Formats: sequence, structure tokens, C-alpha cells
Amino acid sequence: MQTLTDFLSSNGIDADLQQLLSTLAECGVEISELVRGGALAGVLGATESENVQGETQKKLDVIANDLIKAKLAAQPLVNALASEEEDYVVACHSDGKFLVSFDPLDGSSNIDINSLVGTIFSVLPAQNGIEGEAAFMQPGRNQLAACYMLYGPATVLALSTGNGTIMFTLDPRDGQFKLVDEAVTVPADTAEFAINTSNQRFWQPAMQSYIADLLVGKEGKREKNFNMRWIAAMVGDVHRVLSRGGIFMYPQDSKNVAKPFKLRLMYEANPMAMLVEQAGGIASTGYETIMDIQPTDIHQRVAVILGSANEVETCLEYHK
Ligand code: AHG
Ligand code: MN
Ligand code: MN
Ligand code: MN
Repeated sequence: MQTLTDFLSSNGIDADLQQLLSTLAECGVEISELVRGGALAGVLGATESENVQGETQKKLDVIANDLIKAKLAAQPLVNALASEEEDYVVACHSDGKFLVSFDPLDGSSNIDINSLVGTIFSVLPAQNGIEGEAAFMQPGRNQLAACYMLYGPATVLALSTGNGTIMFTLDPRDGQFKLVDEAVTVPADTAEFAINTSNQRFWQPAMQSYIADLLVGKEGKREKNFNMRWIAAMVGDVHRVLSRGGIFMYPQDSKNVAKPFKLRLMYEANPMAMLVEQAGGIASTGYETIMDIQPTDIHQRVAVILGSANEVETCLEYHK
């Protein structure tokens, strides 16, 4: 079976990008081991600190962040990094050609219940003469690579360098990622949706009526019954969408007027949008294609509607 390293070297990917991606994969292997250890590895529970988003950090949020930060800082190709758990951009090597944004641990509320968590990476090109946060202010369309690792029953790695989406599984026997799908395809149609319905009363009218029509099922205008799934880790929900299709939504809500959106553009929405688009799906806010958004802040949040092309298009109709 082809390893990640073999795959990267035989597919015309820039040599420096290959090296960076190997470093990202190493982070995934190490975090995967910590996750497997659970309580025995001392990684469960919360810290007393808050991140810039006002969330109480879990121990594993901090451990995973520190591990990735150290590995990336030691990689001369990394110019600077931005993380969910870092208030500010961290400068690394001024002649490095890559900017890396990451969600060290996605699905923090799942850690203590032994459920799905993952890590998400987005790679942008460094910009000559532009430093700090300003360098990161590029639309997702500029991403050189997007990748996540999902620490589930098996550890998987999904990757796109702009030429399709590919999937690898970590082989526990030799610690190598092995190719399992070199052309991930999201079916255009689906009868499965994912949304946190506890926020229903806070959604905007467009999302209210879209979901209401889904729930009517066969007897209504959608003429089919839908099933629902919610993993509470975007990485798990997106993995399901890449595996068998579906629509995943985290729309605007009015629960907390100061925070109308939940998911972060730079290290959640953009990389997942690239992986989904490269597999034939669509990723939108309802009004704008995610990867076309011009960022204004490394921690900015956006509405996310992504997945099976025809179903996302149907949802977008309600937003017109
Ligand atoms: P994180 O754990 O990195 O802060 O991200 C959590 C996000 C995302 O992964 C997930 O889809 C969503 O929050 C879950 O939100 P609810 O708590 O509203 O279910
Ligand atoms: Mn968080
Ligand atoms: Mn997250
Ligand atoms: Mn996180």
C-alpha cells in the first residue's frame, strides 16, 4: 500500500510542500497516540485558562497546540502560524514560504466522553514583505493545502493540495499513513443532514424554513425522508460528508448577539471548504462561497453550509 510519503513524492507536489505536509502528518501521529492514551496519558479534563474566543481550554487543546507549535517552529519552511489557541500570529522563520493556520483539537467537548476529535490544518503562501496577521489575510482560494486528521476508531488523514481530495488511514503497525482513497467524491444528492437543532429558535428565517421542509419529509415538497446526525466535532461531521455525502450546517444564530457565528474561517471553514469542494461538494455561508471571503481577522467566524452539491444548492435557494 502506498504511504503518504510515497504518494506525495509521486504526484508532482512541490518538494517543500511535501516536507511541510510530512511535518503536519507527524503532529497527527503524535496527537493520535495521546488521544489513544485517554485518562492514562493525563490528557482529559479542563485547564483554568480561556482562549481568545472565550472558551475554557481543555488540557488536550493546550497539549495539542503546544505540540504542533513546537514542531512547526522547528520547521524552517514555516514563516508564521496562527492557531485557535493562540491569541496572536506566531512568527517563525522570516524566509519560510508557508503560513500555517490550525485548529489543534477540534471537538473539544468530545474529549472527556471518548468521542471523535481531530486536528485541522490550512496552508497559505507567505507574502513577500508582509508580516504578522496581515500576511494571513488571504481568501481560502489561495490555500496550497488543506488537511485534517480524525482520531476515531481509526486515525484518518484527509488531504487536498488542489488536485482532488485524498484519504489515508494510519497503520498502527508501522505508524505510517496509507492511501485508502485517491479520489474522494461527495455524492451530489443526500438524505442526511447535520445541524445543532437546539439552536433552532435562534436561526434566521431562511434556515428555519429549509430545515422545516426537510423535517416534513416524504409528504412535503422535498418528497423524501431525511435522517439527522450531529457529532459536535466538525471534523467528524465533515468526514461523514466526505465518506457518504450529506449536508453540514452551522448557520448564523441570535443566541449570543455578540457572536452570531460559531465556526472560524481560517482554521475550520476554509480548509474544510477546500476538502469538500475538491471532492465535488459545495461550501457556502448561505450568501457567499466560503473560499472567496476576504478575511479581516485570524479568528473571524462565519456561517457554514457544506456538503452534497444538490442539497447545498437547495439550501442556498432559501437564502435568495
Ligand atoms: P472546537 O472544539 O475546536 O472549539 O470546535 C468546536 C466546533 C465544531 O467542531 C463543532 O462542529 C461545533 O463547535 C459544535 O458546536 P455545538 O457545541 O454547538 O454542538
Ligand atoms: Mn475551541
Ligand atoms: Mn474546531
Ligand atoms: Mn479546537
